Amino acid sequence: MNHLLNVRQYTEEVSRRERAGLKGQRPCVLWFTGLSGSGKSTIANCLERQLLTQGRHTVLLDGDNVRHGLNKDLGFTEADRVENIRRVGEVARLMADAGLIVLTAFISPFRTERELVRRLFPSGEFIEIHLATPLTECERRDPKGLYRKARRGEIPNFTGIDSPYQTPESPELRFDTSDSSAETCAEIIRAYLAEMKLI
Ligand code: ADX
Repeated sequence: MNHLLNVRQYTEEVSRRERAGLKGQRPCVLWFTGLSGSGKSTIANCLERQLLTQGRHTVLLDGDNVRHGLNKDLGFTEADRVENIRRVGEVARLMADAGLIVLTAFISPFRTERELVRRLFPSGEFIEIHLATPLTECERRDPKGLYRKARRGEIPNFTGIDSPYQTPESPELRFDTSDSSAETCAEIIRAYLAEMKLI
């Protein structure tokens, strides 16, 4: 990108390790991915509550909220979803640099974009959590009534209906929420974080 020729990056005086050290924690990103209604926000909220109770400093980025603010200029075409995830990845990086444990809940349907975000972080810091709840179950739940609308042709490019979801090949964790509660999933994630010495 040509305009970047005239923009010089500088080295920050305070390191991310120092910022996180002040909080006595290690930064990481818990990247929830899966269909709408698969349980991303529910588990992320439940996990964030548990982490906060443990004295961890967290932040939660959720598609439905970020799309009303930072990304309100973006829709659901393939190009817009790519840009949505690129921006969220960059924001997650800034927040991890601030020393936080970052939880994100976005469909993030494309493998390439998820991998691009993974590469923004030091190895072991990006934890991909695939909510593999089947489409039939997400559609049965239909918490926002969006699948019904999409089936009626009222929402174009709806993930799982007429827009693809590319299943992660080797996520760090995978859950099917048809047969496990949000609390149980959150506890398994915390156990994983403890095993990886992230909390
Ligand atoms: S992503 O594909 O770009 O990662 P994101 O997670 O930000 O999507 O937003 C998904 C949320 O937007 C869904 O949970 C749903 O509530 C709403 N939504 C509105 N239109 C669509 C659509 N065409 N496809 C999927 N979700 C949609």
